[in-house]
Amino acid sequence: MKLQLFMASLLCTAGIHASQSHGTKTLSESQEGIKYIKMLGGTLKSQLKAQLQADPSGLGAIGFCTAQAQPITDEVNAQLPDYANVRRTSLRTRNSMNKPDEKDIEVMKEIEDSIKHKRAAAMMIRKVNTKEATRYYKPLVIEAACLKCHGENISPEIQAVIQESYPDENASHYTLGAFRGVIVSEIKKR
Ligand code: HEC
Repeated sequence: MKLQLFMASLLCTAGIHASQSHGTKTLSESQEGIKYIKMLGGTLKSQLKAQLQADPSGLGAIGFCTAQAQPITDEVNAQLPDYANVRRTSLRTRNSMNKPDEKDIEVMKEIEDSIKHKRAAAMMIRKVNTKEATRYYKPLVIEAACLKCHGENISPEIQAVIQESYPDENASHYTLGAFRGVIVSEIKKR
């Protein structure tokens, strides 16, 4: 598989400056792909952080994720051009709506391996071509804040919500630094 890697933060900053200073300047395809990843990732992460601050038990936050993760994904997608979309997926999903396709699995296995072997490029965004589109994959790893809902010692209250809401749950027992999944944006070939 041919992969191209990106320094996400550098490209993003460049993209934002370009669009701010020149108003109508069009973004390159990779700037666009990375921007859409940031739109979804940034929204979900800031909301999750606010929820965890308001209720450190995580119970408020899990209610929020259960109710809002999919509607927020839909809202972000509604803001994108017709030829683009963005979503989250994982080798082990909680919500079966986030299940990976074959290409996702192939790319995520390479990322997982890269993280396991601590390769320098492990956390970089991958650019992958399919027949119909270009995809950009941003790796996500487990941070301390994720453990409440994806770790080994999930509280019984949170566990109850997970069991109730996700019959196919397979996204617990992760440890700090483990590969959790990706945010993937797709720019269809036109
Ligand atoms: C408060 C509980 C909670 C916390 C904290 C949390 N998650 Fe989740 N996570 C969920 C729930 C619930 C879902 C399923 C929501 C959905 O997509 O419908 C989910 C889904 C996901 C998915 C989509 C794939 C799947 O399994 O369905 C990814 C990727 C993910 N989480 C990564 C993370 C990362 C990375 C962190 C830490 C930065 C984190 N989560 C923190 C509850 C949580």
